[in-house]
Amino acid sequence: MARVKYFQKNKSLLIFQEGQPAGYVRYLDSGYELNIEMIFIRKSLRRQGLGQLLLTELLRRFTGRQYILEVRINNTPAIELYKKNGFKLNRVRKEYYKDGQNAWEMIQR
Ligand SMILES: CC(C)(COP(=O)(O)OP(=O)(O)OC[C@H]1O[C@@H](n2cnc3c(N)ncnc32)[C@H](O)[C@@H]1OP(=O)(O)O)[C@@H](O)C(=O)NCCC(=O)NCCS
Repeated sequence: MARVKYFQKNKSLLIFQEGQPAGYVRYLDSGYELNIEMIFIRKSLRRQGLGQLLLTELLRRFTGRQYILEVRINNTPAIELYKKNGFKLNRVRKEYYKDGQNAWEMIQR
């Protein structure tokens, strides 16, 4: 069974599967805008709905915001996860990453 725990100090939510840490999401919240900095699920536990659970819990806790994030343009799993949750591709951010790769900025209002 999966369980989500909120760590306010670390601005993160952790998800546990059978009592073991399985992933996390980190965010920045300004009160009207929530920036999703990173969502991560342990490799061996992907495609089991844990990322979705974590994101659902984050959006539920911080309701009524505009949600925004950057994601590597070739990160199909993450882009699909966000699209499924109502995020739209907003604009390309050129050379957003240190290695020169572009990011998609995605927004959900
Ligand atoms: C993105 C990530 C968190 C998804 O976690 P997950 O637990 O595997 O996702 P879920 O099983 O909850 O999948 C939810 C939806 O995401 C999408 N998705 C997830 N993995 C996918 C993949 N490999 N290919 C296409 N779509 C994918 C699908 O829409 C999926 O819904 P579906 O199962 O009904 O098709 C995970 O792949 C991950 O940790 N990636 C590495 C870290 C990363 O790149 N994070 C994003 C940086 S912002």
